[in-house]
Amino acid sequence: MTTYNFKQDLSKIQQRINAFMLAQFDDIECHSSPLAEAMKYGLLLGGKRIRPFLVYATGRMLGANLEQLDYAAAALECIHAYSLIHDDLPAMDNDDLRRGQPTCHIAFDHATAILAGDALQAFAFDILTKNTALSGEQKLALVQVLSRASGVQGMCLGQSLDLLAEHKQVSLSELETIHRNKTGALLSAAVTMGFICSPEFGNQKLAQHLDNYSNAIGLAFQVQDDILDIVGDQAEIGKPVGSDVDLDKSTYPKLLGLDGAKQKAQELYQTAVQNLQEIPFDTSALRSLAEFVVNRKS
Ligand code: IPE
Ligand code: IPE
Ligand code: MG
Ligand code: MG
Ligand code: MG
Repeated sequence: MTTYNFKQDLSKIQQRINAFMLAQFDDIECHSSPLAEAMKYGLLLGGKRIRPFLVYATGRMLGANLEQLDYAAAALECIHAYSLIHDDLPAMDNDDLRRGQPTCHIAFDHATAILAGDALQAFAFDILTKNTALSGEQKLALVQVLSRASGVQGMCLGQSLDLLAEHKQVSLSELETIHRNKTGALLSAAVTMGFICSPEFGNQKLAQHLDNYSNAIGLAFQVQDDILDIVGDQAEIGKPVGSDVDLDKSTYPKLLGLDGAKQKAQELYQTAVQNLQEIPFDTSALRSLAEFVVNRKS
């Protein structure tokens, strides 16, 4: 029996999605415009590709082939990249380092960074429409899941609540709402999108267990991000350490202390793994991903 090698699998997926996303720019007429350059800067320079990994790992586990998953994985990563470009803007977190490089608005200018984020969002949905390996029903479901997870009932809502919660004492349940939306929503969408691209699309019982798993790792991912903002190494995480404290953000360590936050991440990991046990497929990749989420150093 061969054992699953997460590092190797993640590395292969990173190479695949990076090449696929770069190729999406071939069809663009003004692919060397400052706008397109800023989009590529925000999308292609670094990044762990955890959301694409979840799309591929879930879809593949359920019998989809990788060609059926490329477009969904790329579209989701475009939304993620846009969210990071905007998150770093002076009007939001005002950070100048991302993935070990100057943030998009520093490398280009503020207006170009705003527009690059906007254009990446539109690009995501354009990419989704190009998948000829899926049915119209599957593509529509992908559009619905991605748009909902991105906007006023997902990432943007979470980002808005996050900013409103600066310099405030929020309750644990309010903090959970912020984190589930700003970060959990796109990670959950990754799993759902892999499911939609697979032959199991429509299997409601399976969808429920996948949802429970992805909700747990989605929240855990942001809890660990909050922890790394305190204990992380700037060279390793590629973004400034202490940014949350400087901005007096509402975070898990602020509410629960560092140990309490670590314990929360472990509890969420257990919930994720328990739900995987209910899934009658080979869940080793999703299990390794859950481990990575709570143990990662970057
Ligand atoms: C950072 O996400 C922002 C959060 C949602 C916490 P990632 O840690 O996935 O960032 P990259 O894509 O690897 O740079
Ligand atoms: C960001 O949360 C979530 C999104 C970008 C949607 P953070 O503001 O904590 O992310 P980092 O730490 O800047 O990557
Ligand atoms: Mg932020
Ligand atoms: Mg930030
Ligand atoms: Mg953070």
